[in-house]
Amino acid sequence: MTDIATGVSNLLTRPDVGTLVSASILSADFTKLSADCQAALDAGADTLHVDVMDGHFAPNLSMGPAVCGAVRRGAPEAFLDVHLMLTDPTSFLEPFAKAGADHCTGHIEVLEDPTAFRDRCHRLGLSAGIAINPETPLAALDGVAEIFDLVLVMSVHPGFSGQSFIEPVLEKTRAISARLGPTQRLEMDGGVAPANAATVRAAGCDVLVAATAIFGGHDYAASIAALRNGGGG
Ligand code: DX5
Ligand code: ZN
Repeated sequence: MTDIATGVSNLLTRPDVGTLVSASILSADFTKLSADCQAALDAGADTLHVDVMDGHFAPNLSMGPAVCGAVRRGAPEAFLDVHLMLTDPTSFLEPFAKAGADHCTGHIEVLEDPTAFRDRCHRLGLSAGIAINPETPLAALDGVAEIFDLVLVMSVHPGFSGQSFIEPVLEKTRAISARLGPTQRLEMDGGVAPANAATVRAAGCDVLVAATAIFGGHDYAASIAALRNGGGG
């Protein structure tokens, strides 16, 4: 049973599109960010994943609305999937909406009122996601997963690209997948690579985020195709 009071229609809320690959720009070359974003899009990335960290919720600082706006101006047609690893994500929804975000995800570990976050996203024309950290129990999403357009499962600890995939999150992912309705998306973020992409998809994920697996190599198109379709068993 789903209850998504969304009027937002976008790539993530459309049921007719298959597995999406979201290129996390955290591992892009910031000296040529626009060109790197465009190269990932040209190579088949469906969305650009913008990792926002505040040094409190996540032990790193990354990018804010100004960088998001620059990405938007450089790639006017791109879908911008913004991952807010912030202690107070709700306060930053409007600045990111104004900076060109299409979607924002906040974390269950810090949101006192997930429904208010979801509703604020929708009022701003954004689809809404809820993220869960590797160590956070599934029960934290009781009554919450059902009301979001997307659930993001962290398969590394928030903060940095290039970490190893935490295998035990797969069990939680399968359980979340079983709860979601057909129009809801399930996104995996952290350590996703061609070698584990098939396992991630088999666990129910239809949005695969990758930074290192795309920007860390030379053939973005081959990596993106492998994330979408390949990866063996
Ligand atoms: C981690 C970020 C991830 C990260 C993924 O805090 O949320 O999106 O950029 O990087 P890789 O794909 O290298 O694990
Ligand atoms: Zn992320």
